[in-house]
Amino acid sequence: MKIQMRNLTLLLFVLLSSQLTSVFSWKKDEFRNCNQTPFCKRARNRNPGFCTLEAHDVSISAGELTAKLSPKKSHQDNPDQQDEDQVKPLILSLSVFQDGIVRLKIDEDPKLDPPKKRFEVPEVILPEFLNKKIWLQRHSTETIGGDNSPSSIVYVADGYEAVLRHDPFEVYVREKGGNRVVSLNSHGLFDFEQLRVKKEGDDWEERFKGHTDTRPYGPQSISFDVSFYGSDFVYGIPEHASSLALKPTKGPGVEESEPYRLFNLDVFEYIHDSPFGLYGSIPFMISHGKYRGTSGFFWLNAAEMQIDVLGSGWNADSGISLPSSQSRIDTLWMSEAGIVDAFFFVGPKPKDVVRQYTTVTGTPAMPQLFAAGYHQCRWNYRDEEDVENVDSKFDEHDIPYDVLWLDIEHTDGKKYFTWDPVLFPHPEEMQRKLAAKGRHMVTIVDPHIKRDESFHLHKEATQKGYYVKDASGNDYDGWCWPGSSSYPDMLNEEIRSWWADKFSFGNYVGSTPSLYIWNDMNEPSVFNGPEVTMPRDALHEGGVEHRELHNAYGYYFHMASTEGLLKRGDGKDRPFVLSRALFAGSQRHGAIWTGDNTADWDHLRVSVPMILTLGLTGISFAGADVGGFFGNPEPGLWVRWYQLGAFYPFFRGHAHQDTKRREPWLFGERNTELVRDAIHMRYMLLPYFYTLFREANVSGVPVIRPLWMEFPSDEATFSNDEAFMVGSSLLVQGVYTERAKHVSVYLPGKESWYDLRTGEVFKGGKTHKLEVSEESVPAFQRAGTIIPRKDRFRRSSTQMTNDPYTLVIALNSTQEAEGELYVDDGKSFEFAKGAYIHRRFTFSDGLLTSISIPPTSPGKARFSSECIIERIILIGYSVKPKTALIEPSNQKVEIELGPLLVKPRGGSAVTTVRKPNIPIAGDWTIKIL
Ligand code: NOJ
Repeated sequence: MKIQMRNLTLLLFVLLSSQLTSVFSWKKDEFRNCNQTPFCKRARNRNPGFCTLEAHDVSISAGELTAKLSPKKSHQDNPDQQDEDQVKPLILSLSVFQDGIVRLKIDEDPKLDPPKKRFEVPEVILPEFLNKKIWLQRHSTETIGGDNSPSSIVYVADGYEAVLRHDPFEVYVREKGGNRVVSLNSHGLFDFEQLRVKKEGDDWEERFKGHTDTRPYGPQSISFDVSFYGSDFVYGIPEHASSLALKPTKGPGVEESEPYRLFNLDVFEYIHDSPFGLYGSIPFMISHGKYRGTSGFFWLNAAEMQIDVLGSGWNADSGISLPSSQSRIDTLWMSEAGIVDAFFFVGPKPKDVVRQYTTVTGTPAMPQLFAAGYHQCRWNYRDEEDVENVDSKFDEHDIPYDVLWLDIEHTDGKKYFTWDPVLFPHPEEMQRKLAAKGRHMVTIVDPHIKRDESFHLHKEATQKGYYVKDASGNDYDGWCWPGSSSYPDMLNEEIRSWWADKFSFGNYVGSTPSLYIWNDMNEPSVFNGPEVTMPRDALHEGGVEHRELHNAYGYYFHMASTEGLLKRGDGKDRPFVLSRALFAGSQRHGAIWTGDNTADWDHLRVSVPMILTLGLTGISFAGADVGGFFGNPEPGLWVRWYQLGAFYPFFRGHAHQDTKRREPWLFGERNTELVRDAIHMRYMLLPYFYTLFREANVSGVPVIRPLWMEFPSDEATFSNDEAFMVGSSLLVQGVYTERAKHVSVYLPGKESWYDLRTGEVFKGGKTHKLEVSEESVPAFQRAGTIIPRKDRFRRSSTQMTNDPYTLVIALNSTQEAEGELYVDDGKSFEFAKGAYIHRRFTFSDGLLTSISIPPTSPGKARFSSECIIERIILIGYSVKPKTALIEPSNQKVEIELGPLLVKPRGGSAVTTVRKPNIPIAGDWTIKIL
């Protein structure tokens, strides 16, 4: 009877959850808004000048500037002001790191016995970052023009200093003696609710939709204002389905909206334009403006956060005026718990800020080459026969792909690390068949563990006490795909290591070395939990409340799974783990996708700002479900999605189980041809993509970038999120409407652009109204660049290893160009020891030169390649050459003139050097005569 009841309840949950229904849409009421979130409501209603904290006892200690913060007077007029007897001085420390990074920490003083240690997010900051600290020796004190209170000033980096004004306290970074860059608490909105002892009559519980949060430690939120100077726009703070340039949420003339919410949530059928929180959170904002350039602010805090972007004039009545002649953007940051652990980045160029941020949180991991190819997914491929059919159809239709994915239905009753014995009886053989074609498989592994006494994972986790506990200390029991489930406490290192061991070939029975992993539902998603997630008063290791680390739970889970792939076998291969939930630093663990989008044009469009924003905040290896997860795309949309998705860093087709099958050959011959072309284009460009993945791995600069990252002083690019750059050489513009005949494309800069397919030339610094071709979305190579390609079509990326290269040289107005190629074994970590080829190609005065780029990683390991360049295509070359002379081999080769490229359309004349057959690994020159 008990079992029947359980099954019935499960069915009910399944019905209510995202599984079966597509008639429901985004359920706004399931999620709290700011007014229903007391800390947000309190912070948002405060007036500028609220904070009266004064910095005192300022000194240098352990190489940092330290101070205490105490209130000067109490706020009689503020009902939410804490009782004076409970307010103790806070401790502030300001430290400086190489490359223009300032860290500000504010916390309760441990010496004053707070009821509990507040949570500091571990394992996000790179240990090596801490070695970059500049040991401060002294500070100067002066009263800065217009202030009535002194300030303490410390050196930051060439041309920058950090300032702590004492009364009222304010922290900012400025250009030496001059313009401010980023400041905190300039509007006096700082507030820090200190932990207190519960008094009789205090009601700390919070209720929402039948759920009660016991809040045993009471209010503990923190909020403050942050201002960006010389700023035209702010960007970042994913994950939201919204524009790239963040719209103001409050202020005169602004249509008031919710603040941008950072709270990792499984949002069913999310809408395409909303500041509501989605699956991931990165509290990192970037500001950019024409005059001052770029700066950044990162708050390392994993509790729920809400951020307002304040429209100009929001504080007109406050009487506070800031010393700046330049445009400024003010923002308000509010978090439910944690401490202030904030980083200021001075830039001043877009790529500087990204480098500075990834110095703190890490650069993106270098993926294996196969992961940069096309991935075919569906919820679900039914059985082994289905897998075999889909796989062979790709070959039949001459469409390359690298990875076939299995969703939750492949498991035995939603117990991860198992296989359904009827549908997938021979998993190893199935993987081996794919591997024989150089292909890989990915299976899903979610964090909810089925509470089934016969499931060894559950038994072990229970016995070892590895589950997150509920507020009363019992294993937390929530509902997810398997029904009643519990969640391993991923904050705990020992538990992460235990989890990682589950990926060994011995433990994960049926897995082989060509199998990789997909982490889903790791926000964590709990169908019967408050806001479809875990209660905030659930408990982790060391009494840490879930509210304090919520946004990082999925990050730790992703980390543990990646660790698992690193540990398994001989540990030589780079891992691949895709995750839905994310936090600052997730880029170190693998790829990210934007979750359950919908098969409509608006979602196609918003995928671009979503992926660009992730890239700006470190997460370069990102993509959206191509075709749209929910619903059935009509063929036009489906084709356009492939044409755009072929340029996403992570390129995967995926669909909900209720949708019609939509493998690339199911929409008629013409559409198959168009999608094949799109996928082929991706494979041709793989050498270029892989080179960009390496650039991201070294510098943090994302594979796809907003136009302004490459053209930082061109204002016309600042809010453009319909187009994007792939590296610094390609510009791609999506087509976002049905049966579009024309599309407007802004091509920045002074140089020309060449249509990627036809070679047709277009002037830079202009918006072009172009006729739309059904064959591709508009994509252009920037004049002055060289792109490496591999033009032969194979079944998968791994089968292209020995294929020859084509270099496409797009000449600029001075008949020059340059580009790079990075190659390694595509698989192992040897590259980190120096085993790679990295070439720079330059073309000038009719001479193409290939030289080696000095290694960035030390080490003596070497990588060799027999690959050659079989073709060199010059576009926009004004001379009509006859031959080419290769040195040092002193060999002459033929030249061909004529229109070429992928689809000739009467485009520019191109010059092709045929069969130069020179090694990519060697130093050589080619003189075009
Ligand atoms: C939700 C994920 O976002 C989706 O991609 C997946 O197919 C389903 N869960 C089922 O696992």
